[in-house]
Amino acid sequence: MKILLVGSGGREHAMAWKIRQSPLCDALYVAPGNPGTALLGINIPLKVTDFVALGKFCEGEKIDLVVVGPEAPLVEGIRDYFESNPSLSHVGIVGPGKLGAQLEGSKDFSKAFMNRHGIPTAAASTFSDSASAVSYVEKCKTPIVIKADGLAAGKGVIITSSREEASITVKEMLDDKRFGDAGSKVLIEDFLTGTELSVFVLTDGAHYVILPEAKDYKRIGDDDQGPNTGGMGAVSPVVFADADFMKKVEQKIIAPTIRGLKEENISYRGFIFFGLINVSGEPYVIEYNARMGDPETQSVMLRLKSDLVPLLQATAKGTLKDMHAEFQKQFAVTISMVAEGYPGNYKKGTEITIGASQSPVFHAGTRQEGSRLLSDGGRVISATGMGESLQGAIQQAYETVSLVNWDGVYFRKDIGKDLLNWKN
Ligand code: AMP
Ligand code: GLY
Repeated sequence: MKILLVGSGGREHAMAWKIRQSPLCDALYVAPGNPGTALLGINIPLKVTDFVALGKFCEGEKIDLVVVGPEAPLVEGIRDYFESNPSLSHVGIVGPGKLGAQLEGSKDFSKAFMNRHGIPTAAASTFSDSASAVSYVEKCKTPIVIKADGLAAGKGVIITSSREEASITVKEMLDDKRFGDAGSKVLIEDFLTGTELSVFVLTDGAHYVILPEAKDYKRIGDDDQGPNTGGMGAVSPVVFADADFMKKVEQKIIAPTIRGLKEENISYRGFIFFGLINVSGEPYVIEYNARMGDPETQSVMLRLKSDLVPLLQATAKGTLKDMHAEFQKQFAVTISMVAEGYPGNYKKGTEITIGASQSPVFHAGTRQEGSRLLSDGGRVISATGMGESLQGAIQQAYETVSLVNWDGVYFRKDIGKDLLNWKN
């Protein structure tokens, strides 16, 4: 089978690493890929949202399966483009259409969807004019959670205990267009207190396979201090997600979500990422994403024992019934190594050296210039480790970190440590 993977981050390098291990994969292309994926397949210099060029490539190379990594091409309708083009109708796609991707692309859409299907989530109200939003803010409980409706590169959520700051924020979003059209509606929702985790499924719209869960570390600094990032590390499994909790997640969240999509005739074939919060043992949905997480994927792929390709193929074809995935019991830890200054301004183009490690080093934001590997993004490298114990996996991941060097490297020192002596 010929596979095209769309994307260029650590998530895609980890997926490429797993796909490449499959005897079913005859050829792997990655668009646009990175120097890490270049070692596993052929990088094709195409933009992830250039559907015309991606379509032509698939036609020319007789690609069987397209796996979409990031959200932008999904929300912009890559599946709809392929499905509406007869010469591409034979190509299987892992990733929902434009409507299904609204689960991630519009927080108003996903909140209304959860409410229609009785899926536990924070209560929220949506506003499109700032006067009503401000008068609502004046009465609501603190802390106040304000969310831009659309995609805002992970920056569209503001949590504040100051009503004044909340009022300024809604005005910035609605009147000053701080997030462009993504902020033309805002949600103001109740604050939930608990511990977050991410749960992933592959679904063909009727059936689903649950993949290993993971905990992401979103803040830049140790002990969850400082601004939010794309993710500074990920641990899988998550100790507090025991069998009882995961049963609740499946019964109260996963199954009703898939049922809801089916009832609403939203054909969905792809990954669903459930961003959850554990509130005193009860799971609530914070957000849906229409894709896998980054860096969670890196830990999830390390733990997946089953061949990923038949699962992806069945997702695209609508034949996931009776399929299941097996995972290693071992712990997997990923540490994001980032450029100094991230998530603010940072320098690109610094030379990176990588020594031989026991566990994979996934590239996230790198580029090759001749024989030199250079940094090319905020999150540069995902260093991984595995172990029978969480402590062992953390230790191996930091050993991997010690083998990767560049001037101005920064990483969190505490990934996974909060889970070492976890008490429910
Ligand atoms: P989101 O983009 O919706 O995932 O929100 C970003 C982050 O804001 C989440 O990962 C949470 O840490 C936090 N957050 C979002 N909604 C809530 C909420 N209702 N209560 C508490 N924290 C929240
Ligand atoms: N790590 C969070 C995300 O991928 O959205």
